[in-house]
Amino acid sequence: MSDELLALAREVGLEAADFVASSRPDGRVGVADTKSSPTDVVTEIDHATEDLIRSRILERRPDDGFVGEEGHDVQGTSPVEWVVDPIDGTVNFVYGIPCYAVSIAAAVDGVVEAGYVVNVASGEEWAAVRGAGSWRQVGERRVRLTAPEPPVLAHALVGTGFSYVPEIRAKQAAALAQLLPQVRDIRRTGSAALDLCELAAGRLDAFVEQGLMPWDHAAAGLVATEAGILVAGLDGEPDERLVMAAHPAISEEYFALFRACGF
Ligand code: IPD
Ligand code: CA
Repeated sequence: MSDELLALAREVGLEAADFVASSRPDGRVGVADTKSSPTDVVTEIDHATEDLIRSRILERRPDDGFVGEEGHDVQGTSPVEWVVDPIDGTVNFVYGIPCYAVSIAAAVDGVVEAGYVVNVASGEEWAAVRGAGSWRQVGERRVRLTAPEPPVLAHALVGTGFSYVPEIRAKQAAALAQLLPQVRDIRRTGSAALDLCELAAGRLDAFVEQGLMPWDHAAAGLVATEAGILVAGLDGEPDERLVMAAHPAISEEYFALFRACGF
């Protein structure tokens, strides 16, 4: 069943990515509304894309539940719930920075079984089925993902991101100030979903962020997990309080440093 869920996620994800790309005007995209703070923006295209994804999935699987970042949720009666971010990296999308993604996960009884992420601007695809691995695809070329052995901490390239809420940001900045002198460098791409996929492919060595929501990391977290990355939170599972991810060979050391820095 997980293969079928992934196939549907990919079919709908590709249609949604085409819709996002073709709906984007040249220049800067207009902001329709704000959410948790004045800098937490949403566009009409975020809403329309979530509507498209929800209707495509539920017309094929009408009993399933649906949770989306833009809040058009549906309570289902089947064990399957779809967890969707129509555009992860909305600020990049608004500014035209080519780093934003459609993210679709299918959870069965609360456990993510299939995940699909597509970078709208580049077309690069990422996908995973629990227990069956993860892959990256560009054009016709599909490559199975195996996260490489990480470097020592001092040479780690660490992905992170910030909340839109100023008070939380101030704390994140303080933690980052502790972390930065102890690692190679940090990257803040503006899409947590793409960060976790890139970690799976060895383009980052670790990832840490507070305040992420399930739709930010559900699909990409499985892509990372299936590539051999350990994705964790404060008490095991990642949640809004904390998402940390790194290769298990060195995750204990990496995670201890993140916590010691105040993450
Ligand atoms: C955001 C991105 C960003 C992360 C933020 C998220 P959005 O999602 O994933 O990288 O740092 O915490 O809210 O708002 O672009 O869908
Ligand atoms: Ca998001």
